Amino acid sequence: MKRTVTVFAATGVAGSACVNELIAQDVFNVQVLVRNQDEQEKSSFRPKKELSEKEKQLFAWEQKGVSILRADTNNTSELTPVLRGTDYLVSCVPFTATESQYPLIWAAKEAGVERFVPSEFGYIYEWEQFWPTDTVHRSLARQKAFIRRVIELAGMDYTIIPAGFWPEFYMAEPVIVPVDPDQRVSWSAGVDVGRIIPHVLAHPLSRNAVCPVAATAYCSWKEMLDTRERLLGRNVERLYMSETELKEAYKTQAPGPGQAVLAISLAAAECPQGMPLWAHWNAKHLPEFIGTPLDELFPNVIEPTVQSLITEIQNSQ
Ligand SMILES: NC(=O)c1ccc[n+]([C@@H]2O[C@H](COP(=O)([O-])OP(=O)(O)OC[C@H]3O[C@@H](n4cnc5c(N)ncnc54)[C@H](OP(=O)(O)O)[C@@H]3O)[C@@H](O)[C@H]2O)c1
Repeated sequence: MKRTVTVFAATGVAGSACVNELIAQDVFNVQVLVRNQDEQEKSSFRPKKELSEKEKQLFAWEQKGVSILRADTNNTSELTPVLRGTDYLVSCVPFTATESQYPLIWAAKEAGVERFVPSEFGYIYEWEQFWPTDTVHRSLARQKAFIRRVIELAGMDYTIIPAGFWPEFYMAEPVIVPVDPDQRVSWSAGVDVGRIIPHVLAHPLSRNAVCPVAATAYCSWKEMLDTRERLLGRNVERLYMSETELKEAYKTQAPGPGQAVLAISLAAAECPQGMPLWAHWNAKHLPEFIGTPLDELFPNVIEPTVQSLITEIQNSQ
């Protein structure tokens, strides 16, 4: 019998790619949990989707057999009966709404949900929470690590999916290179993060496991930037920053996407030797999974996202 997966924050970048892949994969029954839209609309520094666009997306999914569940997701007594029948609950909430997962965890426990996949998809937060410098990103890491503990406390299984760098967030020029430019690291564009979730979930080794993926590419910063230069037909400005320089720059940066990128870069630079943050779980366990080729990703996803981030950074200064 097919297990049932319910996706929360399904109209976001990772969420919508996850639902589309669940439909294509055809391994699970697919459900989408829709919030009351009178809550503050949040995003991971992206243009927000209009309600009409979301409703169009939900209708298209419904036509493909997806069940649409609607509830006040802050009200656990309303949410619990809605979640009955869900085996795996996948949360793709933006990092600005990490706290929205608390009522979801309680209601999922009460509804007998077997496994909760929290919205992670970055570094291995369990480690990053102990990095030395207090930044907005370490604070986020601490909360994400805490959420995992709450899931365990609730007695549910979990699957943690660190995904490394989303390349579209780190390409504004000058591009900050925070680690050895020749060291291979994990790259997972948001669309590939969403696409890989159902495959990780279907793998027997993902139960109560941390599965750090490189859903798009496992390559060095140099290789990534060389590819971009080839596609753009020009040089891309690179800024090699040490831990000390990143710390200084972070202190003077206004809150917003620019500050978040510096905090993430600083966390990468502070990563102690012998504790690599990056791994390639899918190479071993999902060898058939192919990320979006960089030749498609740069023009279609990365360059437009860079433009919208630059606007956000300018607006935040
Ligand atoms: N490692 C990296 O470089 C990196 C980069 C970006 C993101 N991430 C991580 O990836 C995860 C997903 O990010 P994303 O970029 O896919 O998110 P996103 O696209 O910004 O998510 C937007 C969606 O979130 C839902 N949402 C909006 N306001 C909400 C609220 N108040 N409470 C709950 N849900 C709300 C909405 O979906 P509905 O209306 O359908 O609920 C909206 O369409 C986050 O955990 C983030 O930290 C990592």
